[in-house]
Amino acid sequence: MEELKREIEQLKKDKNAVLMAHYYVDDDVQEIADYVGDSYYLAKMALKESKDVICFAGVKFMGESAKILNPERTVVMPDANADCAMAHMVDIRKIQEIRDQYEDLAVVCYINSTAEIKSYSDVCVTSANALKVVQALPQKNIFFIPDENLGRYIGSQLPEKNFIYNDGYCPTHKEITAQKVAKAKEMHPQAEVVVHPECTPDVTAMGDYIGSTSGIINYVTASDAKEFIVCTELGVLYELRQKNPEKTFYAAGQNQFCGDMKRITLENVRDALKDLKNQVELPEELRLNAKKALDEMLRLAE
Ligand code: 13P
Ligand code: SF4
Repeated sequence: MEELKREIEQLKKDKNAVLMAHYYVDDDVQEIADYVGDSYYLAKMALKESKDVICFAGVKFMGESAKILNPERTVVMPDANADCAMAHMVDIRKIQEIRDQYEDLAVVCYINSTAEIKSYSDVCVTSANALKVVQALPQKNIFFIPDENLGRYIGSQLPEKNFIYNDGYCPTHKEITAQKVAKAKEMHPQAEVVVHPECTPDVTAMGDYIGSTSGIINYVTASDAKEFIVCTELGVLYELRQKNPEKTFYAAGQNQFCGDMKRITLENVRDALKDLKNQVELPEELRLNAKKALDEMLRLAE
């Protein structure tokens, strides 16, 4: 393991590469990454990166976003098949159908989406900036895709907008049921409940805090509470424990893992860097159209 880490450090130097990782990947990959963060932070870092190669320890839409924002870099993925199921839970036909129904409409697309879906959307959001971005939009009607749960969470805070939802969801967060959270709370009554907005509305209703992975980490770090029930993918425990070694964390259930994020290993990070494998390539027209939605997000979220 240590040998593998040394090999990766050397490859980063040899290839003039940077390693970016999402909080949901394995601890040992987070440990050697140059940047670890939520989707918003990683997109901003990818935009600014000047090294020749970005190795993205995450799922496909993350590598695509990095390439869309910074096409001069070579973006490589440790596992070409690590994808986000939710990213595929809406299609162009559905977007067109809603566009035909409303004149004053913004198609707001969670960054967990394909480049093609982004190219048909007006603006992207992440869980960290969705409220601010949607609030700033002039349109009254908001078609929020693909995630119904994040959409409903943001919609509940913006009664002045008319939200139209799509029935996409994250299979990992769907596993975290209100029943499981209630049981965990019964066992640990002093614990605060921290929830990612990809959870269903009955679970977010139980949260002492609701926010992105970074938001959860910042909240827990600032909180006086000593115990927390964590309602998101459990990769966040690595950073939570790093920053809060004296605090105790409980899962709400047993299946809080994203199988696709867990495809990323030290071995495939090493191989991707060594052979510059699994390079992200996008047709230029698609890239430019998808970029408009990401640029608009970055503009409105600042
Ligand atoms: P954030 O880290 O932006 O909160 O996203 C969570 C997620 O599901 C990424 O796939
Ligand atoms: Fe997609 Fe859910 Fe996995 Fe995030 S945790 S990559 S939303 S399937």
